[in-house]
Amino acid sequence: MGTIKRSSTITKGSDLVIICDKWKDKPGYFLDHTTANYIAKETGEGEKKFVTVNNLGRMIFVIIPDSKKDSNGSSELLRRNGCTICDALNANKSKNVSIINDTLKISNSLALAEGIALANYQFLRHKPSAKKNINTLSTIFLSDKKIRDNSIEQLNILVDATCKARDLVNEPVNVLNAEKLADAFKSFGKQAGFKVEVLNKARIEQLKMGGLLCVNWGSVDPPTFTIMEYKPKKYKNKKPYVLVGKGVVYDTGGLSLKPTPNSMDMMKCDMAGGAAVGATLYAIAKAKLNVHVIGLVPATDNRPGFNAFAPGDIITMMDGSTVEMLNSDAEGRMILADALHYAKKYNPELTIDLATLTGAAVAAIGTFGIVSMGTANEKQTHRLKESGLRTHERLAEFPFWDEYDELMKSDIADMKNIGGPYGGSITAGKFLAKFTNYPYIHLDIAGPAFLTAKDSYRSKGGTGVGVRLLFDFFNNLGK
Ligand code: BES
Ligand code: ZN
Ligand code: ZN
Repeated sequence: MGTIKRSSTITKGSDLVIICDKWKDKPGYFLDHTTANYIAKETGEGEKKFVTVNNLGRMIFVIIPDSKKDSNGSSELLRRNGCTICDALNANKSKNVSIINDTLKISNSLALAEGIALANYQFLRHKPSAKKNINTLSTIFLSDKKIRDNSIEQLNILVDATCKARDLVNEPVNVLNAEKLADAFKSFGKQAGFKVEVLNKARIEQLKMGGLLCVNWGSVDPPTFTIMEYKPKKYKNKKPYVLVGKGVVYDTGGLSLKPTPNSMDMMKCDMAGGAAVGATLYAIAKAKLNVHVIGLVPATDNRPGFNAFAPGDIITMMDGSTVEMLNSDAEGRMILADALHYAKKYNPELTIDLATLTGAAVAAIGTFGIVSMGTANEKQTHRLKESGLRTHERLAEFPFWDEYDELMKSDIADMKNIGGPYGGSITAGKFLAKFTNYPYIHLDIAGPAFLTAKDSYRSKGGTGVGVRLLFDFFNNLGK
């Protein structure tokens, strides 16, 4: 991570990024003639949109934003340029960089700074031998006078929150079990100023959360159910927004065991939805947004222990309905169902869940976006999609036709926990919607939550997906 700060002057000799519509040398940049001429040539005849110069250790980058792209596309390109710059600066052992924006759009500086800061993330907490590989870059200076202090502060909060979510996802289950995850949320609440209540196993039993409890049967660690609430003195929404996050701290598949390569080996990421919910509450509370939001995270690991639920078991859920559990690897929907039922007591304006729910979502669209579906009205869905475009955490909306409901019917219980061979993400969403009685959007983040190779500023491992999307959504309510 890096801290983004305002600076009123550019120090002579400092590393620089210049964003401009057309290259014109200015004395303020402190560039020598040879460098300025080289950049003029590269951007002129060379038609380059991105030029890097390493002048005896001083790095200069020139970016000419793509005028053919729309504003969201051009912001995303700048974030990606930010990653290239971040990597070059760290390779050069630079500590600071100054961004000069000679275009009229302040969003250009902000998007670039965001990309640099997110790309600067590292997860080296368990690798003491990597001391010399720690990134040197620590401060990103913005000289654009038109940028409001609040925008800089919000950006720092957002980068911090995204990196907090990444950290949680990257922690393995031997470090972060369900109780530790709940502790992390308590600490978020203390740091940012929101209420956190953690229900322990005894309370979960009292509440008869059958879905959460059955997934926990095979585990030696108890489950947790975390309730977070951010309610500032003044807020715009009459009814609260509820966020629900899947908190499976490790998914072995249970008795329906997963294979290891490219499957179980990355299943520490199965609480990425929960991490995103906790980190979003952290961000909106730190930024003091005027919105009332509740976050719910049911958490447990899913293991084939002695008492683990067996395919065929019939489970009574918190809402009293019964589920024939035909596959123990379809555990996420079991724990989320109880959380969605619990959410009814808030009479929510809208409930959004985030879950690494199905391999079918990855098969359908890969890691480039979020699979979405639900029962929310068009305006709410449109707003969230717009946030997806602005943050490049894009939503691909799947159909939610009645026919899919049929596929979840069981002969001996109210429902099965798996559908047929096709439309797996949708049948999973349909299962969840059965436990709602309010406007609802289901986000399947199985693809973008965890990457096996870095994709620009989206780091290898946990990406923190969902945090930037939801922060943007809440920040633009009423606008
Ligand atoms: N946690 C997995 C889904 C997943 C897959 C997350 C890939 C991240 C990357 C989930 O619990 C699961 O195993 N789902 C099953 C459901 C099936 C048994 C109906 C799946 O998708 O195979
Ligand atoms: Zn599973
Ligand atoms: Zn899972």
